[in-house]
Amino acid sequence: MDYKVSDHKGLGKLGKEELKLTRQEMPGLLKLKERFEKKKPLKGARIAGSLHMTLETAVLIETLVALGAEVRWSSCNALSTHDPAAHAIKDQGIPVFAWKGESEKEYWWCIEKTLEFKGGPNLLIDDGADLTVFIHENYPKLLPNILGVSEETTTGLRRLRQLESKGKLEIPVINVAEAKTKKAFDNYYGSKESFIDGLKRALNPMIAGKVAVVAGYGEVGKGCADGLKAYGAHVIVTEADPVKAYLALMDGFEVMTMEKAAPLGDLFVTATGCFDVISSKHFEKMKEGAILSNMGHFDTEIDVKALKNRKTIKPGVEVCDFKGKNLILLAEGKLLNLGLAKGHPPLVMSNSFSCQLLAQIELFQKRHKNTIYPFPEKLDKDVAEMHLKALGGGLTKLTQAQKAYLES
Ligand SMILES: NC(=O)c1ccc[n+]([C@@H]2O[C@H](COP(=O)([O-])OP(=O)(O)OC[C@H]3O[C@@H](n4cnc5c(N)ncnc54)[C@H](O)[C@@H]3O)[C@@H](O)[C@H]2O)c1
Repeated sequence: MDYKVSDHKGLGKLGKEELKLTRQEMPGLLKLKERFEKKKPLKGARIAGSLHMTLETAVLIETLVALGAEVRWSSCNALSTHDPAAHAIKDQGIPVFAWKGESEKEYWWCIEKTLEFKGGPNLLIDDGADLTVFIHENYPKLLPNILGVSEETTTGLRRLRQLESKGKLEIPVINVAEAKTKKAFDNYYGSKESFIDGLKRALNPMIAGKVAVVAGYGEVGKGCADGLKAYGAHVIVTEADPVKAYLALMDGFEVMTMEKAAPLGDLFVTATGCFDVISSKHFEKMKEGAILSNMGHFDTEIDVKALKNRKTIKPGVEVCDFKGKNLILLAEGKLLNLGLAKGHPPLVMSNSFSCQLLAQIELFQKRHKNTIYPFPEKLDKDVAEMHLKALGGGLTKLTQAQKAYLES
């Protein structure tokens, strides 16, 4: 049995039906499958993947397989697996090691299982760089056979840049995280909707009229801020970068430090990729019943260890007693949208995963150095155009004279 998924029976059938609906909403992946299925450009690829085991990821996995790859998969977060999706992948005979609510030990065991190819993996797909760093630290012998990794998220990219700056990066990287059709769409538009979805599923709070504090005004934070604003919240932003802080102000948000915002907020969300963004000194000042959530990749942004007496009301919703005051912690401080909802909608993940698929073909077909490559602009435009067309958008074609004028 070359898989491990949740014990629940009958989920494969549900996952299969859900997958049909998800595919319809992923026009980029469908188009790429149509374009490449016969040529099988990934024949011979042995891909180890560590990326949230959602329905959208299931469509990515089956597309990789349709293009000729062998795939082994785990999730990059212990809470983010959608169990029906994992079952549906297992039912297609693809080795998958993922279930919602893995312990820390199980999480690393799942990652390790993705490496068990005959001859080891020769490509990686990563989200947060846990898989890549794990191989560098524990299985360095596998590295010479790995043609590269395509990294999905901002935090993963930061970790890979650190490895590179220390001279320790031993495989090529394609930076999907900062592809234009990834970051500006998935991080912004995806978060704008899926953050609200997580909040609603957790507590169904009335957002209108509330004071919401968003930490970090990158694409994810901006998406959360705009989603909250659309529902009628009064939004405060905290930022460490003066340009981003200034932008938030010009976008109509109040901008202040977390120290000042802590006593004002009814709900908080962190989206910085940093640590201890909200800690004891802020909990001290918060209102009774303040809601704490995180959208950043790791559960380091809220100092959850300082919240001692935690009572679980339902999975992912805990009431914490902080010095006689109740604070509500969502998804254990892990990604709210993936811990308590189903992550970003399929359409926006079609962008990200089209980039992933094209990056994998690029890594497999050409030889690269052990450095970080930007996602090729030509491919970015290809992904944009596919989705533009699918949504019925028209594109202006420049005349030769206009092109020459713009280039002159
Ligand atoms: N939940 C999801 O589905 C999802 C999707 C994409 C990315 N992510 C993750 O979300 C996080 C943010 O991603 P992004 O692309 O917006 O990153 P980003 O780097 O573009 O933005 C982060 C912002 O936070 C600011 N910041 C850093 N430390 C801070 C602090 N202590 N206080 C206030 N501001 C601070 C930075 O100046 C920056 O402007 C990352 O961890 C990323 O991996 C999550």
